[in-house]
Amino acid sequence: MMQTFHTKALKDPIFKEVSLAAKALGLEAYVIGGFVRDYLLGREQKQDIDFVAVGSGIALARAVAKRLPGHPKVSVFKNFGTAMVQHQGMQLEFVGARKESYQRDSRKPLVEDGTLEDDQQRRDFTINALALSLGEEDFGRLLDPFNGLKDLENALIRTPLEPETTYSDDPLRMIRAIRFAAQLGFRIHRDSLNAISIQKDRIRIVSRERITDELHKILLTPKPSEGLGLLHKTGLLEYILPELVALQGIEEREGQRHKDNFWHTLEVVDNISRTTDNLWLRWAALLHDIGKAPTKRFDAKIGWTFHGHEYVGSKMVYKLFKRLRLPLNEKMKYVQKLVMMSSRPIVLSNDYVTDAAVRRLVFDAGDDVEDLMTLCEADITTKNPKKQKRYLKNFRLVREKIQEVEERDRIRNFQPPVSGEEIMETFGLQPCREIGIIKEAIKEAILEGEIPNAHGAARDYMIRKGREIGLEPLKH
Ligand code: CTP
Repeated sequence: MMQTFHTKALKDPIFKEVSLAAKALGLEAYVIGGFVRDYLLGREQKQDIDFVAVGSGIALARAVAKRLPGHPKVSVFKNFGTAMVQHQGMQLEFVGARKESYQRDSRKPLVEDGTLEDDQQRRDFTINALALSLGEEDFGRLLDPFNGLKDLENALIRTPLEPETTYSDDPLRMIRAIRFAAQLGFRIHRDSLNAISIQKDRIRIVSRERITDELHKILLTPKPSEGLGLLHKTGLLEYILPELVALQGIEEREGQRHKDNFWHTLEVVDNISRTTDNLWLRWAALLHDIGKAPTKRFDAKIGWTFHGHEYVGSKMVYKLFKRLRLPLNEKMKYVQKLVMMSSRPIVLSNDYVTDAAVRRLVFDAGDDVEDLMTLCEADITTKNPKKQKRYLKNFRLVREKIQEVEERDRIRNFQPPVSGEEIMETFGLQPCREIGIIKEAIKEAILEGEIPNAHGAARDYMIRKGREIGLEPLKH
């Protein structure tokens, strides 16, 4: 077999250090996995580098760290037989070559020492099993017993072993296959796809965190519908996001059809991904219609309705985030808010846009108003070019109006121009209900455009409003 060398991949001095450390220990050492794959693809070089030693990976890590300036710390994960060293912004991961087999209902492997080839064949995909030698004699030699290079050239995701075995060893790989296909623009081998469809329910033994991690990588690809579509096609999505799968399908009654909200959602996610890399805004796009499945009704007079789906959808976000181990913090609140408000600008753009309606939108959305507009623009999936143009134009008008109103009225992050204390002092009040009533009335008057958002006008209004409810200002 022809031997190829890739010394250029190993220019960084760290590879020489590992090579020398391995030699001193009398071990073979290799670079393997994503680093080699991405180098051969000409992709941006990863900062995570995986090394495999035929022998103890932990011993190799320790020997390497000793040779490096400042002797960085070695983090040892004894149970896994791995060790990690941080060096110049790189994460160096060391593992001993092993034969591994998994017990059926657990991710706990039975591990035995093995050769390089044993180690390569227990990896997920042929393109991730490519190794470069760090031996003194054959530095940079490519070791590719499973034709990973050919698969890279053919843009193919294939497992080194029978797909059933590889996926059963670690069912997360079913999602990883889809993630790599989506990230790299590769095809998944037919046998692999079949195996995934058959074994999909094994995904249940995988931790939510690992699944969510892969899902995020899919969501962050330029066209997430490809990965999400594959998750759906293989049946995996049903285990991960059943709320989304529930949106699939078109029903017809009395000649009235509604759109397929699942495929519509994927289009919205693709649209938004052209304008933003904000993961949480992409999440909002993915979930903006989830309330439509539980709220769907048919009304003989008006046809299909989804009344209150925004509210129901935003209520579903918490449970979904909790289940997927997503953060239950301001990120979740942001997604909930965008789902909740997702139809507001649409309603606006259908009518003549009044300043008051725009002020209310800005008041409710606060700093997220631009993201909300981005979501609504992405939500336009009509195939009718005339309609599309009209909707986009309307949203542009809403955006302009937002700017205009904001410059004049400063509604975003609204601070009441008259404080509760000022109301109390003016009327000589102790804390009571009337203060809230007056404050609310001032806010309403500003939003409705009856008075400007300014102290003088708000103070006059306060006195008028106070008198209306029987209060008289104290004389100073
Ligand atoms: N690997 C595997 N099975 C898994 C996870 C990882 O066989 N379930 C192996 C693969 O050889 C992979 C390597 O471990 O290349 C490193 O895994 P990881 O860092 O998750 O992926 P990378 O391939 O490095 O790619 P990326 O950084 O894009 O995740």
